[in-house]
Amino acid sequence: MAGHKRQAVGVDIGGTGIKGAIVDLGSGELTSDRIKVATPKGAQPEDVLAAVREVLDTLGVDDADDTPLGVAFPAIVKDGRTLSAANVSDKWIGFEAEKFFEDGLGRDIHFANDADVAGVAEVRYGAAKGQRGLTLLTTLGTGIGSALIYNGVLVPNTELGHLHRAKHGKDAEAYAAYSAMERDSLSWEAWAKRLQWYYGHLEFLFTPDLFVVGGGVSKHADQFLPLLKLNTRIVPAVHRNNAGIIGAAALAGDER
Ligand code: BGC
Repeated sequence: MAGHKRQAVGVDIGGTGIKGAIVDLGSGELTSDRIKVATPKGAQPEDVLAAVREVLDTLGVDDADDTPLGVAFPAIVKDGRTLSAANVSDKWIGFEAEKFFEDGLGRDIHFANDADVAGVAEVRYGAAKGQRGLTLLTTLGTGIGSALIYNGVLVPNTELGHLHRAKHGKDAEAYAAYSAMERDSLSWEAWAKRLQWYYGHLEFLFTPDLFVVGGGVSKHADQFLPLLKLNTRIVPAVHRNNAGIIGAAALAGDER
């Protein structure tokens, strides 16, 4: 695409880990090691900033470097502000996060929701490339993130991990995220029953053309996707847990 720089840096802030890498924007491949540090306990803004700095330092990216930088965050992101905080400190609610990172890192960033950028990565370089109609990408991790993409165009901040399950009294991510499987020591079969409820409900609400499943657990997709009975095709994210890094970098590259 015109205006694309060849490389950009993507940093994906999650509830459990903060990951970063340098990305080739032509192919969507990582051109550096993938660096990961634990998300600091409590995920307070200052601590998260320090962890992002550590990732960038390890990657050898410094303030003077003008490689575009994209940062993905696990919350609603509107006009540079974080508006929710499901798995991070409440201090992020209503916080001018984009400016906070830009001031703290001494450089411009592109700032967006983590699942949304994973959706962008899969549309540009992965499982949803060339897909027409409605694609619904979900990330199954500490929480559940969602990206709604229609004919290649993202509708941001859908937050479908927070659909409520009346029987359970909590939201979908508390019941069916990968963290719920770990927390409740579920077998793949038992977890798949919860996912069946979740994807069956999404299918009824949206009638998508394709489901893409991301998050670290997508590398074990063969253990649980075949157990789901859906009318919609459901596939793992090609870029698995790197989709957030790649999408954040891709969007940062667009800005230059
Ligand atoms: C957050 C979303 C995020 C998802 C995955 C949810 O708890 O509300 O914004 O995309 O977790 O990290």
